[in-house]
This record gives sequence, structure tokens and C-alpha cells, in this order.
Amino acid sequence: MTTTNAKGPLAGKVALVTAAGQGIGRAVAERLARDGADVSACDLSASALADLTAARTTVLDATNSEAIGNWVASFPRIDILVHAVGFVHQGTIEECGPEDWRRSLNLTLDSTYIALKAVIPKMKNHGGSVITIASVASSIKGFPRRAAYGAAKGGVIGLTKACAADYLRENIRFNAICPGTVDSPSLRGRMADLADSLGGMAAAEKLFLDRQPAGRLGTPEEIAAVCAFLSSDEASFVNGQTINIDGGITI
Ligand SMILES: NC(=O)c1ccc[n+]([C@@H]2O[C@H](COP(=O)([O-])OP(=O)(O)OC[C@H]3O[C@@H](n4cnc5c(N)ncnc54)[C@H](O)[C@@H]3O)[C@@H](O)[C@H]2O)c1
Repeated sequence: MTTTNAKGPLAGKVALVTAAGQGIGRAVAERLARDGADVSACDLSASALADLTAARTTVLDATNSEAIGNWVASFPRIDILVHAVGFVHQGTIEECGPEDWRRSLNLTLDSTYIALKAVIPKMKNHGGSVITIASVASSIKGFPRRAAYGAAKGGVIGLTKACAADYLRENIRFNAICPGTVDSPSLRGRMADLADSLGGMAAAEKLFLDRQPAGRLGTPEEIAAVCAFLSSDEASFVNGQTINIDGGITI
């Protein structure tokens, strides 16, 4: 069952959200629906999507161009895409083997290429808003042990800006949101991966909190709120930007 809000700022708009099973993508799907958009969401995990009631859901692998192509083709019109698929490899360049590198670029950057390329023809007649979920760990700032991740997210920012330049006259806006450290299931997984070597989960949590000048983690809902604004016509003059939502990391 999907929820609708006929008077919301996104009423009448068709929105697609990738990686909507959990974390930021989930919060975005729920927020856009609350604001009135007709939301369709995809994720690799059927179980993660099972209790997402705010959107129509499709299980697919966003690195598969045919799967994304078929999904996108099923919509006569698309106004909004939020592409949230990404993968964090924790390691320096020396700790990043060729498979880690390729997996990082495939999940994070190739999937962005695939999703953006697929939706553009569906927006050309009437315009639209495309939002990529990049990261401050990218071309914006170097973080320890984020070699492949930083490279892939830097690529996402570059692609987002290039598309903004190419489709400006067709009224398709492209913006990259760059979160700091956001409390999500995969962040908890990264903490768990480090817990043994750091002497426990509390120490692992402290490592991530110490990166945050605000002294706390961000929430997926705080990222979704900015996605909702960028999706709306109120953001009609915002194009080709990186928007840091990072609790003060880049002050
Ligand atoms: N959490 C953070 O601290 C943080 C910070 C900056 C940027 N980001 C970015 O935000 C995005 C979401 O991260 P998160 O931590 O909120 O969520 P998450 O990592 O906890 O969940 C990601 C979701 O993506 C799905 N997914 C994975 N591979 C997929 C594929 N090939 N096709 C379709 N779906 C797939 C997973 O099943 C999962 O539901 C990512 O791009 C991430 O890099 C996260």
C-alpha cells in the first residue's frame, strides 16, 4: 500500500529511489511519499523492502543496466530520481585489493552511471530533479582508510556536475548530497567490523563519533529532508551543487 498527500509540495510528481530498503534510501522514500510524491523504490534485498509501505517496491540489482532499464521503462514519466546505492570499503590503497577496488567502483560509480543514464530520457520533455547520494569522503575531503570509497564518491560528484552542465537547458537539475557520518545499518556493520581490533563496540563507535564536530551521528531523516527540498520546485535554481550535510566536518 502506498501513502499519498495530495496537498504536499511533491504532489503530482513521480519519484524513484534506489537502495530504499534501509538507511538513507529508506528515509528518502518515506519522506518523498509524505510530501506527496508517487514513490517507487528498489533495493537488492527483498527482506529490506518487505515493510516499506510508503512506496511501490521492486527487487533489483542497481549494477545491472538491464534491470534498471526495465524498471525505468515501466514509468511513462519520471520527475525525481534519488540514487542512494553505494558501498564502503574500509582501507588504505595498500589494503584495497583489485576486487575491493572494482566492487567499490561498480556499486558506487557504475550504478550511478546506469541509473542517471536511464532516467534522463524520461525527464527530457518536462524537466526533473536528480539527486545522487555522494559523501564528504570524496573529492571534498580525504578520510583515513577510505581510498576506494573516496575515489568512487569523487566520481559520483564529477558525474553529477557534468550531467548538470549537459542538461541545464532541458530543465533537469542534478545535485549531489554529501553526508557526514549517518547512523544506518551499514554504519553499524562497519563499527562491528572494527570492534575486535579496537577493543569493543564502544571504541568503534567513538572512532566514528570523533569524526563529527557536532558530537553526534546524523540521521537518515536529516538527509531525507534536504532531498525533499532538492526534489521540489522550491529548489528550481539549485543545480550542479554538492550539499554537505555533515554535522560540521567541512566548516
Ligand atoms: N551511512 C553513512 O554514514 C553515509 C555517509 C555518507 C554517504 N553515505 C551513502 O549513502 C548511501 C546509503 O547508505 P546508508 O548507510 O544510508 O545505507 P545502507 O548502506 O545501510 O543500506 C544500503 C542499501 O542499499 C542496498 N543495496 C546494496 N547494493 C545494492 C544494489 N546493487 N542494488 C540495489 N540496492 C543495493 C542494500 O540492500 C541496502 O538496503 C550510500 O551511497 C552511502 O555510501 C552513507
